[in-house]
Amino acid sequence: MTITLILLLLITIITSLMFIFIPPWYPRNVPSAPFWITLLPLIFDIDQQEIFKRYLAGPLYKHGAIKIFFAGRWNVIIQRPELISQVLKKEQIYNKAGNQKKVPHSLLAEFLGSNIISARGEEWRCYRAIIQPGLQKTFETEPIIKNAEKLCQILSRLQLRSMGEGIPIQDVLQRYSSANLLSCIFDCPELASQMMSFEQEAPLHTTQLNLKRYLFRPIYMSFPVLDRLSAVIPSRTKARSLIQQFSNLLQTEILRDSEKNTDKISKGVKCIGARLESAWREGILNLKQLRDNLNVLYVAGQENPQLLMLSSLYILGKNPAIQEKLRREIESVKINEISTQDWRDLPYLTATILECLRSLPPISQLINRRVAKPTLLGGIIYLPKGTYIGYNSYATNRDPESWGADADDFRPERWGTTDEQISMKYRGAKARAEFISFHGGSRACLGEKFALLQMRITLCVLVKAFRWKLDPEWEDKMTAAGPLHPRGLRLVFTELRA
Ligand code: HEM
Repeated sequence: MTITLILLLLITIITSLMFIFIPPWYPRNVPSAPFWITLLPLIFDIDQQEIFKRYLAGPLYKHGAIKIFFAGRWNVIIQRPELISQVLKKEQIYNKAGNQKKVPHSLLAEFLGSNIISARGEEWRCYRAIIQPGLQKTFETEPIIKNAEKLCQILSRLQLRSMGEGIPIQDVLQRYSSANLLSCIFDCPELASQMMSFEQEAPLHTTQLNLKRYLFRPIYMSFPVLDRLSAVIPSRTKARSLIQQFSNLLQTEILRDSEKNTDKISKGVKCIGARLESAWREGILNLKQLRDNLNVLYVAGQENPQLLMLSSLYILGKNPAIQEKLRREIESVKINEISTQDWRDLPYLTATILECLRSLPPISQLINRRVAKPTLLGGIIYLPKGTYIGYNSYATNRDPESWGADADDFRPERWGTTDEQISMKYRGAKARAEFISFHGGSRACLGEKFALLQMRITLCVLVKAFRWKLDPEWEDKMTAAGPLHPRGLRLVFTELRA
């Protein structure tokens, strides 16, 4: 009996290790990235861009796809636009499968559950009917301008205090993008002004910072099976309690603030908090679905614009000539006229933002589809049922076949010089899945319009107020895991207004 048990245990361990270390047989014509690159960020101080260049770029550009180990399993990552197009078009074959399906026992799944981004079929249609009008209304620009002006005051004060040294920027941008989301999407002006008042604590901000620090540790992202032990791993117990804390805060604070606005109609549409709350009261959503959707909308709606701002400030800090050219274009805009600004008059601004999104997409890699039946993707890649498939937008957005030999260079002019040329290029690149930063097809990002408006106003206000550069003492490095962005970026700002 004991021997049988030991044998069974041994067999289980050996098969689990084989499953981890040995890539799956299929698809046979797709190379595998070595398993151990998953471990690199856990052991070395390595940059994701470096990992990409050394281990992924070659095979990805040659074969259009690669097998990689992530989130406890082997996945297929595709890079070629025509393959991505097919995945986006054929949802019935490439089913959307978020963390609640992929790693149901993980803390990430507990946090975000089934929501508008991860669900599919009837459930997704139900969430979308509630949420979409609140995301695609015409947004008022005044609250963003007000927040951006406050951001300038904060940066000036921080810069003054730092006596000419660089200031860390990510925390400030997190508060700023949260304030914009709270003002425009959730209609919570009081919470937004608390976010921008650096004299006060903003519990939503501090809890979110803390939660990110605990929840997204690379080892648990690569091996979510460890979350099964969350009751005995203190840092995971802490992550679980932060999930509860953050979700409770969102529910009470956002719904309380938006309750005051329940009857307030902004541009003909009730705000999202009020819409979600009505759906819950009418029994269309249960409490868990209400909370999951609030969580995901807050995280996606705040984190992605913040990462775009961070990377854009980094790129412009590194390219003073481009920053100066932008400044010359923006010079003609009066701050008090931004709300009525016709953005078509500022083609270089639009092209610069698109180039930032292309070069450093906030979501650089996404694995969120599961193959529903055996399939031959693009007539060449055989995918057995159950294969998890995703794409690397960093690779696709820099593919020399689509973007030319200078794809790695930052060159806003590649988008065109007039508004017409830029929007044609943009629409074409998105339709062909050559530019994949906002996903695509029926599941394309619903916050794109708001994200672009916010980014335009932010750059307009910042470029008029400051000239900035990278802190010479800051080590120019990207993150080691998770979203790819400059790590702990520090910038030196010089005021221009005076
Ligand atoms: C620069 C900013 C942004 C980028 C780069 C971005 C990118 C993306 C991507 C890649 C997806 C697909 C995710 C997946 O399939 O797992 C997505 C979906 C989505 N995004 Fe965004 N996003 C941004 C801003 C926003 C904002 C501000 C909101 C508003 C709250 C938002 C709301 C959504 C929603 C609701 C979906 C799901 C659409 C659906 O499946 O029907 N996003 N976004």
